[in-house]
Amino acid sequence: MATVVVALGGSLLRPEVDERHNWLQSLVEVIVASVESGSKIALVVGGGAPAREGIELAKPFIQDVAHLDRIGIAATRLNATIVREALAEGGLAVSRKIPESIAGASLELENYDVVVMGGTEPGHTTDAVAIRLAIQSGAEKCVIATNVSRVYSQDPRTNPEAEAFDGLTLGELQEIVGPPEHAEAGTSQVVDPIGVGEAFDHGMPLDVLDGRDTRIIKKSLDGEDFEGTRVRV
Ligand code: UTP
Repeated sequence: MATVVVALGGSLLRPEVDERHNWLQSLVEVIVASVESGSKIALVVGGGAPAREGIELAKPFIQDVAHLDRIGIAATRLNATIVREALAEGGLAVSRKIPESIAGASLELENYDVVVMGGTEPGHTTDAVAIRLAIQSGAEKCVIATNVSRVYSQDPRTNPEAEAFDGLTLGELQEIVGPPEHAEAGTSQVVDPIGVGEAFDHGMPLDVLDGRDTRIIKKSLDGEDFEGTRVRV
């Protein structure tokens, strides 16, 4: 049975958009369809607005990045719980626990069709967790569902000349996101450089796509051509 891990950027559960209930509902439908066609799915959910809010509040008093990271991790687990409950309501056999480690998540994946988790420990983001889980569980690929349509050569918000890529090698993606080091808590690259480093070391394919449109997530899960960036060895 094919396993796919999906990193869901926390910004996808964004509070500023009215249709977010529809987004969550259609995500559930996409996961149900994928499980019905024989896949196992692990979802690793990012911290989004509650992470930003919590880190922002505590930042002036806290020097240690790892301590801020723990606030971010709590937010990822809150978001993971929301996604988990929505999937369970959709009738899926979802692990009851929100695993707190890669080993725990791999174990749950042996017994359930779907596992949902957030972060694990300080020092990286949920992209890196998703990529590690994909490697550990022998997944065929890791989907990075974010809020941009493709990987760009530079940040397209500050550089209108930035080039968008349909395909990259893992080495090329590492060049774009930079060396595998942890950024300041709450700041982010299109894909966590630490995760990209591990994907490179283990030859784990990545599909980077715009998760705001759940049809694109579905295409990637179905192994079809999708709008986004295919990152391969
Ligand atoms: P996210 O995975 O959401 O990071 O975790 P991000 O990439 O900054 O945010 P989005 O999803 O793209 O908007 C939020 C924060 O939680 C901490 C980090 O500080 C991260 O920035 N975190 C998360 C950890 O320290 N370890 C983890 O395993 C996960």
